[in-house]
Amino acid sequence: MSSTSLQDLLLLGRGSDLASERGVSCTGELPDASDPDLVARATAAKAALGSRALILGHHYQRDEVIAFADITGDSFKLAQAAAAQSTAEYIIFCGVHFMAESADILTGSHQKVILPDLAAGCSMADMATASQVQQCWNDLEKLGFAKVTVPVTYMNSSAAIKSFTGEHGGTICTSSNAEKTLRWAFEKAEKVLFLPDQHLGRNTAVIDLGLSLEDCVVWNPWKPQGGLTEDEIRNAKVILWRGHCSVHGRFTAQSIAEFKERIPEVQVIVHPECQHEVVTAADVVGSTEKIIKTVSESAPGSQWAVGTELNLVSRLAAQNPDKKVYFLDRTVCYCSTMNRIDLPHLVWALESLVAGKVVNQISVDPETARYSKLALEQMLAL
Ligand code: 13P
Ligand code: SF4
Repeated sequence: MSSTSLQDLLLLGRGSDLASERGVSCTGELPDASDPDLVARATAAKAALGSRALILGHHYQRDEVIAFADITGDSFKLAQAAAAQSTAEYIIFCGVHFMAESADILTGSHQKVILPDLAAGCSMADMATASQVQQCWNDLEKLGFAKVTVPVTYMNSSAAIKSFTGEHGGTICTSSNAEKTLRWAFEKAEKVLFLPDQHLGRNTAVIDLGLSLEDCVVWNPWKPQGGLTEDEIRNAKVILWRGHCSVHGRFTAQSIAEFKERIPEVQVIVHPECQHEVVTAADVVGSTEKIIKTVSESAPGSQWAVGTELNLVSRLAAQNPDKKVYFLDRTVCYCSTMNRIDLPHLVWALESLVAGKVVNQISVDPETARYSKLALEQMLAL
């Protein structure tokens, strides 16, 4: 269950290859980060586009970007917002690649989704490739387990994996509805293949559904048959993909213990992408939206140590001056890919649109989009 191994580091390296495969099309055209007019330029470009453009901002985005977002939210809320939005011509998605892909799948063909920096990927999403997942499914089919298994795929995944999920009767989940989707899946099948975040899968199965740790096995895509014996797969209820978040995987139960020792009245709230021992040691667990709501609605004077991305925690602290909000572990970094979207990239994307040039459009091919949409709509229907 340890979160970083040599293979993971190699995967992270591969993740950046994927980002470069996606291309970075703004080289040389970006406004200077020190340009004192950036705010004025973004304001003017946004005003010029008016209702033709909708800016969506994930909670992990920088303040300078969130300041221009029409809607902020977690990945579930932003997917809902994209699905509900049928008029804006351009959806400028300030988040990461998989979120923009989902927005493209859920919006109409007359709408264009723009990701201001194409290198804003997600290392977790890159930990499951379509060919690895297909290989896993082939193995399960060969052993006769595929017919009793339904895939549940976390939003943090490529459109190709979402498409696989839709094609095999599964659903997408986010950190705000993982329990509901897992319950739904177990009404349909004996086993769940949970992709790609092992921690969210394990935490939901064990804490929310009351399964045991022994009911869960981890499928290692780098080993034959996932590194599992036939009996281990037969006895498992949840087959967890061996993926994790490189940010949340770094929080430790020890930092919770140290916080509680230093400030006995502190409450700890963490994201379910954290390791199981961290989530069980915390007082509250929830999606980014739930973290914000819980802390904001708590009594004045409350003290919170928060285990999620630092941009969110810093903003939460600033917005709740009547409470004490701490970052759970100072050694944990920002999400580097979320942080790639900054004001220069946003200005560049907006001004290009004003000039009639569509840049960094995220477009999922129709075949992949067909089944991904099925899986995403299944999630929204739940
Ligand atoms: P939410 O689903 O809570 O928005 O989280 C997305 C994410 O990338 C967390 O790392
Ligand atoms: Fe991906 Fe983790 Fe960043 Fe979320 S915080 S986008 S899961 S790397």
